[in-house]
Amino acid sequence: MEFILVEPNYAKHIALVRLNRPKELNALNLQLMNELRDSLKALDEDDEVRVIILTGNERAFAAGADIKQMSGRSAIDMLKIDQFSTWDQIRKTKKPIIAAVSGFALGGGCELAMICDMIVASESAKFGQPEIKIGVMPGAGGTQRLTRAVGKARAMEMVLTGNFISAEEALKYGLVNRVVPEELYLMEALKLAKDIADKSPIAVQMAKESVNKAFEMPLQEGLFFERKNFYMLFASEDQKEGMAAFIEKRTPEFKGK
Ligand code: CAA
Repeated sequence: MEFILVEPNYAKHIALVRLNRPKELNALNLQLMNELRDSLKALDEDDEVRVIILTGNERAFAAGADIKQMSGRSAIDMLKIDQFSTWDQIRKTKKPIIAAVSGFALGGGCELAMICDMIVASESAKFGQPEIKIGVMPGAGGTQRLTRAVGKARAMEMVLTGNFISAEEALKYGLVNRVVPEELYLMEALKLAKDIADKSPIAVQMAKESVNKAFEMPLQEGLFFERKNFYMLFASEDQKEGMAAFIEKRTPEFKGK
């Protein structure tokens, strides 16, 4: 891997994935996205890993798709290369992904953070969909996920002006989970990851899947899907352990079985 650093044992049951193209502000070229897809797939298949943290560096989470790589392409090139199909695979990751964002999260960088399940931001984080400034528009979820996250009025303004919002604004609008000083953002993401990693990984994955269905299904179907997942969890040892531990007044030990 050239542009992605992976620490599968960053902490107990927690992996860290770092976008690592710092000179280009982690611009998301095809190779980086392929490496990211492959790393996430490998971590998703690793039973030791329960939660994944995705981060960049202090200056940039990612400043968007690689403009230099895309600039000369024709529409047919874009269709053939279909660079955003990688993103569909990333979205299918079953384990929760926490984006730890500092600095720029722009264009594809903002969209990548939004594919994650939660966002912990540093005070220096800036979110935006500036594609309009270079004659295009968001192509990896910016018009859809941002609108669902912050509402039509704010999304429309961000997408049509290309202006950035601060971490505090992103918190106020519901785009991020929390904002902390820059020196603490990774630690805060780790704290959140630990809080999830000690739960049943099967229940966590099914709960993640169910919450995501809220954006894809009508309410009745979503409720039905949720109910099926709830019933299905009674096939797990973790359900027996979790409920026994409650009754016996002890801490449960979940095994992911
Ligand atoms: N693609 C390619 N290279 C990029 C890049 C990008 N998205 N963003 C930054 N870089 C490169 C710059 O070209 C520069 O490289 P050189 O040193 O070789 O010139 C290096 O990273 C550092 O950037 P700047 O000198 O511009 O740094 P700055 O602090 O002055 O500005 C910035 C930072 C405001 C983020 C500015 O770099 C910028 O506006 N970047 C582009 C943001 C953007 O438009 N993103 C959307 C891309 S399209 C997209 O993402 C489509 C989609 O929906 C997926």
